[in-house]
Amino acid sequence: MKNSATLPRTIAPFVWHFLKPYKIYMIGFVACAVVSGLFTIIFSTLLKIIIDTIDTTTSASQHSIPLLQLLFWPSIGFIINFEIHNTMWRLMNCINYKIQPLIKNNIIQETFNYVTRHSHQFFQDQMAGKLSNNVTILANSIERAVHDLSRHIIRGAVMVCATFITLYLVHPDFFWCFLIWAVLFGIGSFWASQKSISLVDHLASTESAVSGNLVDSISNIQNIRYFSMFNFESSYLLKTLSLMRLAFRKKEKFMIIYWSFQGISQTAMLAVMAYLLINLRQKGLVSAGDFALILTLCTEVGFIVWWTMEQIDNLNDTIGKCNQSLRALFAPLEITDTQNANELIITHGKIQFKDVFFHYKNTKALFENQSITIEPGQKVGLVGYSGSGKSTFVNLILRLYDINNGYILIDGQDIATVTQDSLRAHIGMIPQDSSLFHRTLMENIRYGRVGATEDEVIDATKRAHAHDFIEQLPEGYASLVGERGIKLSGGQRQRIAIARAMLKNAPILILDEATSALDSVTEHLIQVAITELMRGKTSLVIAHRLSTLLHMDRILVFDQGKIVQDGTHDELLGKPGMYKTLWDAQVGGFLGDGETVSN
Ligand SMILES: Nc1ncnc2c1ncn2[C@@H]1O[C@H](COP(=O)(O)OP(=O)(O)O)[C@@H](O)[C@H]1O
Ligand SMILES: [Mg+2]
Repeated sequence: MKNSATLPRTIAPFVWHFLKPYKIYMIGFVACAVVSGLFTIIFSTLLKIIIDTIDTTTSASQHSIPLLQLLFWPSIGFIINFEIHNTMWRLMNCINYKIQPLIKNNIIQETFNYVTRHSHQFFQDQMAGKLSNNVTILANSIERAVHDLSRHIIRGAVMVCATFITLYLVHPDFFWCFLIWAVLFGIGSFWASQKSISLVDHLASTESAVSGNLVDSISNIQNIRYFSMFNFESSYLLKTLSLMRLAFRKKEKFMIIYWSFQGISQTAMLAVMAYLLINLRQKGLVSAGDFALILTLCTEVGFIVWWTMEQIDNLNDTIGKCNQSLRALFAPLEITDTQNANELIITHGKIQFKDVFFHYKNTKALFENQSITIEPGQKVGLVGYSGSGKSTFVNLILRLYDINNGYILIDGQDIATVTQDSLRAHIGMIPQDSSLFHRTLMENIRYGRVGATEDEVIDATKRAHAHDFIEQLPEGYASLVGERGIKLSGGQRQRIAIARAMLKNAPILILDEATSALDSVTEHLIQVAITELMRGKTSLVIAHRLSTLLHMDRILVFDQGKIVQDGTHDELLGKPGMYKTLWDAQVGGFLGDGETVSN
């Protein structure tokens, strides 16, 4: 994997980072754009030469050289000019063909590598859809800016420069006239683009309101059906749609007026040019061919200036979007490996919290001065009301969050100083709501250990009591399970997660309400397999069905971030306290949802 930790966070260096390996191609690309920018000027000049030649030949008919001979070279020049122009465009296409997919792939790949290194908190704060959208925006915008816009802007700039020089050479009056027009046109375009920004922004926000509305309604389709609200939703959508229509009209109206002024200014410029031509012709200062040269050049370049201004606008827009995406994606990593971080080495599996202080961003302290030691191979049950800090406790061991003070040690090694990859490689985690990839079940289970053979996968799946239901699916292990595993029930997904952990077989095991979605019979069956899996491993088990914790070596009772009780089931049951309250509240070892459903 490429090291993406060093990616620049501002647009220009970011783009350069990806273009640098293809410097030679980029130089070639720019050169082609420059040459293609000369097309119009050469075309108009050749036209001038041809007309002048015809003019002088007919006015001096005694000329002995035939017209065909006189026009031979300018005509060849005409053909060559067209072909060079064609070739330049094809060369630019070829360079694109060669490097565009590479650059785009690199951008997406390196951005992905970076973004996936963000912390747990980062993904809780940001919506996944928005993040992946940003990756696409970044890649597409840069692709467009580099290959499309730059080509037009370079070409436009070359044309404009060449036009100025030519006009000056024919007569400085043309130069000044064109310059005044170009400056006024530039100022007008700038003013209009500033003005249109707020209109475009407004339009964009109404557009995203419409798509937000669509997403919200479609993802709530069940509600719409249950309450028969199709008509209501349709008229609800109509409201946002009419806002979008108004915003579009407002923006478009402004643009039509502005374009009309631009068009008139161009006509006026051409009229002045024509007047100058006639005037200078009367004084014998310009030839007939100069009419063709000046008028074609000014018409053509007038359009190009117009077009280039729009491209600059688009480029600004693209840069704005890229900057926004860069800011969202390339925020500094919240949790990083220390320099020279070592690999975690597990010898026994002892876990220690030493004076740990922890609070979530912008909230009050959850753990204060928390110290506790979990001995190697110990099986520990974690219980407590919802929100008491059980999940946070195990997430801290996984270093999903950095603690504010103190140490968490595994076999004497501070988890903040070992690599995150090695830390998590040694911990098997079965979360409450494990989501699955939209890949086959075989691939999903093999996620526990990518190198596992098919037999090993099936063996683990059998032990997790998932084999039978998988076999009954039409495509068995090759079944796709829908986005996030939507086509499986919660209990089925949990069994897949258990199978994964069995394959991973890490020395430390964490179960965060891992069997909460199972029915009692299945849970009982799996319990046997889990007990087997826990053998010889340090295990932390969060459960709201207290009966599943009867065989734990030790139970920790959490209350508002504090461990208020610590002992075996029998010890804790023997004295008054929270554990006894929780136990007594159970019906058949299961606490009512209202009291302890936690996540
Ligand atoms: N990502 C988070 N950001 C802010 N507060 C959080 C976050 N996750 C959990 N909390 C808060 O921390 C407390 C402990 O939560 P948690 O560890 O999930 O409890 P439990 O697993 O025991 O139900 C709760 O008050 C919860 O609201
Ligand atoms: Mg929890």
